Amino acid sequence: MRIAVAKGDGIGPEIMQAVISIFDAQKVSLEYEYVDMGKWVFDKGYSTGMTPEAQHTIETLGILFKGPMETPKGKGVKSVNVTARKTWNTYANKRVFQTLHGVDTVFSKAGIPIDITVVRENIEDTYGGIEHMLTHDVALSRRFITRPGSLQVIRYAFEMARKKNTLRITCGHKANIMKITDGLFLECFYEVAKEYPEIKADDVIVDDLCMKLVTRPDQFDVVVLTNLQGDIVSDLCAGLVGGLGFAPSANIGDHICIFEAVHGTAPDITGKNIANPTALLLSGLAMLRHLGLMENAAIIENALLYTLEEGTRTGDFGDRSKTALNTSEFAQAIISNFGKKPAHGEKPMLPNKPVTPTTFRLEKNPLIMSKEMEEEVIVGVDIFIESSEQPTNVATKCLLHTTDLFKLVTISNRGTQVWPKGSVFTNLVNQYRCRFESIGDQPVTQIDIIELYKRLTLDFKVCSTELLNMWGGKKAYSLAQGQ
Ligand code: NAI
Repeated sequence: MRIAVAKGDGIGPEIMQAVISIFDAQKVSLEYEYVDMGKWVFDKGYSTGMTPEAQHTIETLGILFKGPMETPKGKGVKSVNVTARKTWNTYANKRVFQTLHGVDTVFSKAGIPIDITVVRENIEDTYGGIEHMLTHDVALSRRFITRPGSLQVIRYAFEMARKKNTLRITCGHKANIMKITDGLFLECFYEVAKEYPEIKADDVIVDDLCMKLVTRPDQFDVVVLTNLQGDIVSDLCAGLVGGLGFAPSANIGDHICIFEAVHGTAPDITGKNIANPTALLLSGLAMLRHLGLMENAAIIENALLYTLEEGTRTGDFGDRSKTALNTSEFAQAIISNFGKKPAHGEKPMLPNKPVTPTTFRLEKNPLIMSKEMEEEVIVGVDIFIESSEQPTNVATKCLLHTTDLFKLVTISNRGTQVWPKGSVFTNLVNQYRCRFESIGDQPVTQIDIIELYKRLTLDFKVCSTELLNMWGGKKAYSLAQGQ
């Protein structure tokens, strides 16, 4: 089996070398095709951070094992890590956090075992990076949560939970505030949950989830979240088991999968051969299991667990009174422990059953679909304008331009209603949202809205617009705070 390997930047080449040396010593039947990705590729002028040859190899082989990569700052380029995840539709980010004996944490000392798998949606949310300055003072980020995208990652989480015989799966969200976006994710969660009656499905608001994870982490099993919340919660979970040095990550797609450590390039320790290769090794073990190389994975993981239990350490963790090994010595210690069994968490020895990754090009896009076509009408528009005037003056000018079709129903500033009612205590910025609804919710056309837009430009700079849709008699938009 051939896989693509990108060594990465910073400590990437050092930890990748250590992990490959462990695989080689175990005679893992993989061939490595090294590809050009990372900061030095940006520096050569490739704006995506990878060469076309690298892209071709990865798309042909379907598996990328990668070291951390640096995103050049201030050059307007996007992170190659995020580009790779999005380009190849690795829609589920799976991170497993388990107690590792020998890696002391408050929980290991208290005898509280941790075994949490976080599944984070990996493509959508604010990570599209679709951001604009609406005025010199006001920035806007668009947050996309889609039904097909949510269903896809949630179904992956449930399938994985079923294979693991998981008892509980929890959806973390903020649907109490983001009723439409997180509300959609939560709705999809319970829709999929119906297909898995044997698994207890529940949901927790993300701030409460963070509190519960640090007080009773043993109560959680699989947690599924949207992208940004999942990013934050998974680093929190990394902290529970000893830090980023122990946090592996698998980016799963239907066609291409990327295995990498959660941590970055650690520029402060680069070139010293002292980095901890455990997170990359754990990611590599997830890759071996993904490829059906179960026996190799079990032998290496048992040796790793035994090595940690022995108190063998790199400089970033463990008993400071013991000498720390460097990266290659630590890899060698694991190799010399092949065949040994840890006292805790021994992995069962299952036979290797190699699975060749299937890569095929998308003939049609399976995500372009809709739940069901409901009666769909446009009943208004939110027009975002720039103005430093008081709300009553803004309203007077808006009312001047309102046609017979529309009524001005509310004006809000940073999402809080300031007209027709508001509070003198609400602080204002120079950008308002003016909501025009059609009289009696009568359908209006986009041309009607363009007419209104044109009239408003006589008094304001329009920064952005958003249609107000009604589907099957239900509003497909949220109310302003206080409306
Ligand atoms: P970082 O994870 O590289 O470093 C944070 C701290 O953890 C540093 O003190 C570092 O020495 C330590 N550390 C990280 N990995 C370690 C290891 N294996 N062994 C021992 N100590 C380790 O995070 P930072 O400094 O915020 O980011 C540095 C660069 O990495 C940035 O350019 C960032 O964009 C990139 N990055 C790349 C990621 C990826 O490729 N998936 C993920 C996160 C950051």
